Amino acid sequence: MSVVGTGGRPRGVRSRAGEQAGGPAGPLTMAIESVTHRYGERVVLQSVDLELSERRIGVVGANGSGKSTLARLLNGLVVPTEGRVLVDGLDTRTHGPAVRRRVGFVFTDPDAQIVMPTVAEDVAFSLRRTGLSRAETAERVAAALDRFGLAGHADHPAHLLSGGQKQLLALTSVLVTEPDVLVCDEPTTLLDARNTRQVAALLDDLPQQVVLVTHDLDLVAGFDRVVVVDEGRVVADAAPGVALAAYRELVG
Ligand SMILES: Nc1ncnc2c1ncn2[C@@H]1O[C@H](COP(=O)(O)OP(=O)(O)OP(=O)(O)O)[C@@H](O)[C@H]1O
Ligand SMILES: [Mg+2]
Repeated sequence: MSVVGTGGRPRGVRSRAGEQAGGPAGPLTMAIESVTHRYGERVVLQSVDLELSERRIGVVGANGSGKSTLARLLNGLVVPTEGRVLVDGLDTRTHGPAVRRRVGFVFTDPDAQIVMPTVAEDVAFSLRRTGLSRAETAERVAAALDRFGLAGHADHPAHLLSGGQKQLLALTSVLVTEPDVLVCDEPTTLLDARNTRQVAALLDDLPQQVVLVTHDLDLVAGFDRVVVVDEGRVVADAAPGVALAAYRELVG
């Protein structure tokens, strides 16, 4: 199958002014260059070339097509068998920690991401290597919990939150570190319709660049760009209208 709509795109230029202000910089460029990835003998991504610099990028595709593997390339959780991935010019193979400071990753299952007993401790854990004082950490944690509607749960056991609240906690724990990019792998799959809308609205409002892997096509309908993955290859890459039509035809 031919690739739909791979036109040239302007390279992302980071805003120095934004960096100085302490907020997220402008969209950065994530370049996936000639990437093939295998687990053992099994090829799960094949000859993938993508330059991602839009603010809102969706990734869709059938189960097992390679979406999560592709998403994990972007913060170095997966290092490609062949080819390379550059985030803001940094090779994920050699600059993993610096890449992960720029690119936060949210998993489908928030339980997999909760590491501390209480909600506030869990968010504070993300800041453990920042060199912030105890008071600064507490201040940042309180502000983040407030921003994402979890302030009333600060001292509650994290594992007793509802599914939607846990997903908000997972997002908060990643966002408190102020990454430039948020990669979310099916963040609404375990949520009911109301919580899905809440998380979708939160993602919509973020100043961060967002890469969202999802089976919920409505979530990416308003995005800048949608990448369709099938059997380890990018088979469509275009504005949502064109890309989602190609995907619907594919799964027919
Ligand atoms: N750690 C691993 N070890 C071995 N094989 C793996 C591993 N992770 C994924 N795979 C295989 O790689 C292929 C692609 O998996 P991936 O999780 O990237 O797909 P996906 O598009 O995210 O699927 P889904 O929609 O079900 O989440 C699958 O065949 C899967 O079985
Ligand atoms: Mg997946």
